[in-house]
Amino acid sequence: MPLRIGHRGASGTHPENTLAAFRRAVELGVQGIEFDVHRTADGELVVMHDPMVDRTTAGTGLIMTMTLAQIKSLEAGAWKGPEFAGEPVPTLREVIRATPADLLLFCELKAGSIHYPGIEQDLLALIEAEGARSRFQISSFDHKALKQIHELSPTMPLGMLYEENLLDPISMARAIGATALHPAWMWVTPELVKEAHAAGLTVNTWVVDLPPFIDMMKGAGVDGIMSNYPDRL
Ligand code: G3P
Ligand code: CA
Repeated sequence: MPLRIGHRGASGTHPENTLAAFRRAVELGVQGIEFDVHRTADGELVVMHDPMVDRTTAGTGLIMTMTLAQIKSLEAGAWKGPEFAGEPVPTLREVIRATPADLLLFCELKAGSIHYPGIEQDLLALIEAEGARSRFQISSFDHKALKQIHELSPTMPLGMLYEENLLDPISMARAIGATALHPAWMWVTPELVKEAHAAGLTVNTWVVDLPPFIDMMKGAGVDGIMSNYPDRL
């Protein structure tokens, strides 16, 4: 059975990338959670999907131009339902500390040094400081950032995210030093999974919410499935 991974937590029913969504995913029995990381103007790693706060909070602005205090003053739950009003944006440190020690953390770095100079080092330093290395797999669409993380920390598990039907994802993963392919689900076939496994790579796919596609991914033999509705996994 593939790993059950709550995408942005149990984000189908709870406000994405908040502790409420992560707690709900844990209640539903996931083995891992996926979440997204940006960096504030004063250097704190925070867990949000968009580069701007506008969609999921009552505020407005670019995370990279805002301080942690400004981000912490925002309300990030009410957009999903009045029962979540008051839910804050969590820092990455808070997510590590507030979740069970055996919960796997599929951490998506939304952008590397191209937008956040030195964030690869910052992320690795935080993971080490928290003693959380064994829980982490870092993924990104920013393959240069992944390669840099591999050079800084050759044993850190890395997932190569992609959303196109790449000609040769396995060679690309090797060039990065990635340990996993993270394809969008529509590109996953049994052949791809077989080739990845033969190359020593695992395959974790996203975002799979509909039962027929969940069954399809299980049939293809993937190692992990990220879903907004982890109870369906
Ligand atoms: O990590 C898989 C998936 O989360 C990538 O897309 O836009 O949901 O972050 P997105
Ligand atoms: Ca993500």
